[in-house]
Amino acid sequence: MSRPEFDQYAADYDRILKEAMPSGLGESDYFAEYKVKLLARLLEGAEPRRVLDFGCGAGRSLPYLLQFFSKAECWGFDVSAESLKFAAQAAPRARLSCDWGMVAQQQFDVIFAANVFHHIEPAERVGALERCRRILAPDGKLFLFEHNPFNPLTRWVFERCPFDADAEMFSLERAREMSRQAGFLQEAHGYTLFFPKPLAWLRGLEPLLTRVPLGAQYYVQMAN
Ligand SMILES: C[S@@+](CC[C@H](N)C(=O)[O-])C[C@H]1O[C@@H](n2cnc3c(N)ncnc32)[C@H](O)[C@@H]1O
Repeated sequence: MSRPEFDQYAADYDRILKEAMPSGLGESDYFAEYKVKLLARLLEGAEPRRVLDFGCGAGRSLPYLLQFFSKAECWGFDVSAESLKFAAQAAPRARLSCDWGMVAQQQFDVIFAANVFHHIEPAERVGALERCRRILAPDGKLFLFEHNPFNPLTRWVFERCPFDADAEMFSLERAREMSRQAGFLQEAHGYTLFFPKPLAWLRGLEPLLTRVPLGAQYYVQMAN
């Protein structure tokens, strides 16, 4: 079996991403926190007992998941064992594994997958969602965050980012279709990441913009 693609980027993940972004837009941590804050808002005060960061990579979101869901057990899964070494440094309290069999023995109230599915082969994406669906608690929710291919700045960064060379973005509509194909019965969605760090003071407006297809990313919330 070939080495997972992200093993080669693990040590330099943040630097590579930073170099691909226009300067001053905000560090990758800013956007990681942005998404976890949105996740907390979408959960409307619910306190998950177990959270899985699916495709956690080098662990950029895990410290925020641990912070915002302080009572939860936080897990990280990734196919790249090399990335998990960095995730362990970033979030020593998280439970990390690249063994799906082990992860799949648990049930999760929340599964968070940020910028992972465009790295999965198109023909395998629905299968990966189905596997996640099977390990959700009965009232659990999966939150898929993905790049919005209609945002010109997102496209610009995507085209410059070395680890996106073989990746393929997909639209919010396609993600909603995948949710149905994977057997999810309920779904909610919206666009997000409208405001880079210099415009962070405008973020209060974001709930008014969720239907405007110009956010840098979108989310789809899926439930059984
Ligand atoms: C762009 S990185 C995103 C990492 C992290 N979610 C973040 O927001 O920083 C994509 C990650 O998806 C992981 N990945 C790719 N295919 C996967 C799969 N089938 N299952 C789980 N993770 C996968 C890669 O190893 C990589 O760490």
